[in-house]
Amino acid sequence: MNCRNLILSNTPEFVYNLLISIGKSGEKTGVPAYVVGGFIRDLLVGRRNLDIDIVVEGEGINFARQIAEKINGKIKTHDQFGTAVVILPDGFKIDFATARTEVYEYPGALPTVNPASIKDDLYRRDFTINSMAVKLTGDFGELVDCFNGQRDLKYGYIRILHDLSFQDDPTRMFRAVRYEKRYDFSIEKHTQELLQQAVSKGYLENISRQRIRNELFLILSEDNPLPAIQRVEELGLLKYIHPCIEIYGDIISLFDKIGELSKSWDQETDLVLVYLLALLDQLHLDKAIELSEDLVLQSKYTDALIASKIKIHNISELNGNLRNSIIYNAFKDISSELVLYFMAKFENIREAALYYINEIKDIKPILTGRDLLEVGYPKGPIYSEILDRVFSAQLDGIISDRKQALEYVKKNFFKE
Ligand code: CTP
Repeated sequence: MNCRNLILSNTPEFVYNLLISIGKSGEKTGVPAYVVGGFIRDLLVGRRNLDIDIVVEGEGINFARQIAEKINGKIKTHDQFGTAVVILPDGFKIDFATARTEVYEYPGALPTVNPASIKDDLYRRDFTINSMAVKLTGDFGELVDCFNGQRDLKYGYIRILHDLSFQDDPTRMFRAVRYEKRYDFSIEKHTQELLQQAVSKGYLENISRQRIRNELFLILSEDNPLPAIQRVEELGLLKYIHPCIEIYGDIISLFDKIGELSKSWDQETDLVLVYLLALLDQLHLDKAIELSEDLVLQSKYTDALIASKIKIHNISELNGNLRNSIIYNAFKDISSELVLYFMAKFENIREAALYYINEIKDIKPILTGRDLLEVGYPKGPIYSEILDRVFSAQLDGIISDRKQALEYVKKNFFKE
């Protein structure tokens, strides 16, 4: 099968031109070049994917260097793995690697790599659907499908290439689930048997906590992560993420609600974080801190997790007909991720949260410290209290301009 027309019709023109250009360089230098992996899988199912992975039967870094020069890009190399990233002036990235075999010394070890043919390179990969390549040199666009990836894509199977696959790289167990749910496929029977053996042999214990966290984050980045999380639990993988995580009715409803609310949510929000808060909803503060240390979460995630536990009481009690200043003060230090999480969790605060975002979040105080100085109010720590009170009065409609604000200060704070 030739994919030239599919690339032409399903990817932006600049990507097609880049692939042509990479192919021409390969021809000139006699280095066979291929585009491989997820790009091909998604090309064949009609899903947008602009992650370009190039594999060459030759020296990957040198080849990347030539391409960088030709297209005026920057290059970052990882000499240890024989890989490089070329970054175009507009930020678009292309990965380059030498076709290689990988040898794993023990389950979960980082592999020792050796140069090899494209077929060997495809054979070392996780699943048949990810083991296809398209030629950029020679017969441009020709599909290289040595392991029936196209058939498994057509019938919807996640299938490993050899029996040691999960042993070599136990993170593939999470990847299998992620692809199964993303494409609505099934993990093929023998693959699932081997996966279950790998779970019971505890191969995931050899994997660093950071790598497990990365897999969790990849799952949480999916459009609808819940089915994959449930499948992770069903297959006995959840305890390797952390033994204190449980999935039950409330968590399922939270995930569903976040999905629903996020459709009409226009704030810049890291949904991975929102789903993480939902997943860890039942943990108390001390357990949450323990988990964030164990999974080596970045401070952005740890801080939000801690804030979610600390602020929850306050937020849950926001009820009834509230003054603007109460709403403002409840939400002012809360990130959009936390707002969305709390909205999913507490129906009673949804209206107030949306009102905060749409109506009052961006209101600026009429009065500043400079105004207080100008009218001769003695400088001191009380400034912030005065300004807070004035701002609350402004939010609640008691004052509406600078003159009224200054009168309010005079009446409430100037001693006779
Ligand atoms: N790969 C693998 N084993 C892994 C990780 C990756 O064999 N544990 C191979 C697969 O061939 C995969 C390619 O490396 O297609 C690129 O990996 P990655 O970027 O993680 O996945 P994509 O295929 O691009 O898929 P997606 O990002 O959509 O999950």
